[in-house]
Amino acid sequence: MAVTKEQVLGALGAVSAPDGKPLPQAGVLSDVVVGDGKVFFSINVDAAAVQRWEPVRKAAEAAVRRIAGVQSAMVALTAERAPAAGGAQRPSPAAGRGGPGAHGGAGARGGPNAARAPEGVKAIIAVASGKGGVGKSTTAVNLALGLRDIGLKVGMLDADIYGPSVPKLLAIRGRPQTLGGTRLLPMDGYGLKVMSIGFLVEEETPMIWRGPMVMSALTQMLREVEWGELDVMVVDMPPGTGDAQLTMAQQVPLAGAIIVSTPQDLALIDARRGIAMFGRVNVPVLGVVENMSYFLCPHCGTRSDVFGHGGARHEAERLGVPFLGEVPLDIAIRETSDSGRPVVATDPDGAHAAVYRAIATKVREQLGGRGPTRPAPKIVVEA
Ligand SMILES: Nc1ncnc2c1ncn2[C@@H]1O[C@H](COP(=O)(O)OP(=O)(O)OP(=O)(O)O)[C@@H](O)[C@H]1O
Ligand SMILES: [Mg+2]
Repeated sequence: MAVTKEQVLGALGAVSAPDGKPLPQAGVLSDVVVGDGKVFFSINVDAAAVQRWEPVRKAAEAAVRRIAGVQSAMVALTAERAPAAGGAQRPSPAAGRGGPGAHGGAGARGGPNAARAPEGVKAIIAVASGKGGVGKSTTAVNLALGLRDIGLKVGMLDADIYGPSVPKLLAIRGRPQTLGGTRLLPMDGYGLKVMSIGFLVEEETPMIWRGPMVMSALTQMLREVEWGELDVMVVDMPPGTGDAQLTMAQQVPLAGAIIVSTPQDLALIDARRGIAMFGRVNVPVLGVVENMSYFLCPHCGTRSDVFGHGGARHEAERLGVPFLGEVPLDIAIRETSDSGRPVVATDPDGAHAAVYRAIATKVREQLGGRGPTRPAPKIVVEA
C-alpha cells in the first residue's frame, strides 16, 4: 500500500520539538512530499537554533523510515529566518571574499562555509557555466566517464536540484538503497557512483525549493551518502551565477571548477561571470571547455564554425585560465546523451570519446601532484 502524507504526519507526532511540542504542531514543517516510498520535507527553524534542531531532524528521519513501505526519507533542516542578534553567523554569499586560502585536500577548499569533503573523496570539481543549455550536464557526464577511462575512481553529484538531469543522461532508474537505514548508497551508472535529487523525488513533483532547503539537500547528498573511495567527484552545477550558485560553490568543498561555454559572444560573457563567481569564493578554475565548438557535416565531412569557433579559447587566454578543449556540435552527442547512452561509454573508440578523454587528461593534470594551478582571477564583470 502506498505511504500517505497522513501516515508521515502521524509518525512525526511522536517526535518532539525542542520546546516539547509534537513536531507537526511546532509550525516548522514544510509540505511533506511522498512518492513511491520516498519521503521528503524540511524543518524550517531559526538559524541561531539549528544545533538544537539537529537531533529532532534525525529523530524525524528515523520515525519516517520506520513506517512500513517507506524506502527512503530525507529531512532537511532549513534556516530561513534571520538569526537573533549576536546569534550564529548566517552564511552569506559575500562571506567568501577574502576567506582563508586553501590548504591540502578537497575538504580544505571552497568557501569558509564549505562542508568537509566526504571521507575518502580526494577531489571535488564543479562543472558550471553562466548560461543554461550550453551542455554542462552532457560535458559533466562525458568528462566523468573520460576520467573513469583514464583509470580514476569517479563519482557524480547532480547539484542541479531544480532540474536534475544526470539520472536521465546515465539511464539510471530505481532508487538508492540505504545502508543501516541511515546512509544512502550511490547508484551506479557506467561505473560511476552517482547521486541526484532526481532519485529521491518524483519527476513530476514541483520543485518549489527555497534557497536554504537546497543547501541542506546538497550537504546531505555530500555527507550522508556512502561515497567510498573516490579519486574525483564531478559535480553538475545548475545554470547561472546568482546567489544560489555562489552559495553552493561555497558550501561544496571544491578543488576546482570547469567552465563550459559555447563560442558565441553572449555565452562568453556568461562564462566570464562564472569564472568571476569562483574567483569570489577562492575556487581555482581548472579550465574552460568550448562546447558546440564547430560542426562536422555527417554527410560530407565539411567543417563549419556555426557559432564562431575559438571564442572560448581566446577568452580563456585573455583571462589567464587553462583551455581544456573543443567539443564539436554533433547530433551523435545529442542523441546518445539524451537517450542515456553517453558517447564516451557507448562509442569509446570514436572521435568524440577521444575528445572527452583528452579533456579528462588535462583535468587530471590540473588536479595532479602539484594541485590546481591558481585561484581564478578576480574579474570585474560589467553588468
Ligand atoms: N556537443 C554537443 N553536440 C550536440 N548536442 C549537444 C552537445 N552538447 C550538448 N548537447 C545537447 O544540448 C542540450 C543541452 O545540453 P545539456 O543538458 O547538457 O546542457 P546544460 O548546460 O546542462 O543545460 P541546463 O542549463 O538546462 O542544465 C541537450 O539536448 C544535449 O544533448
Ligand atoms: Mg544541466
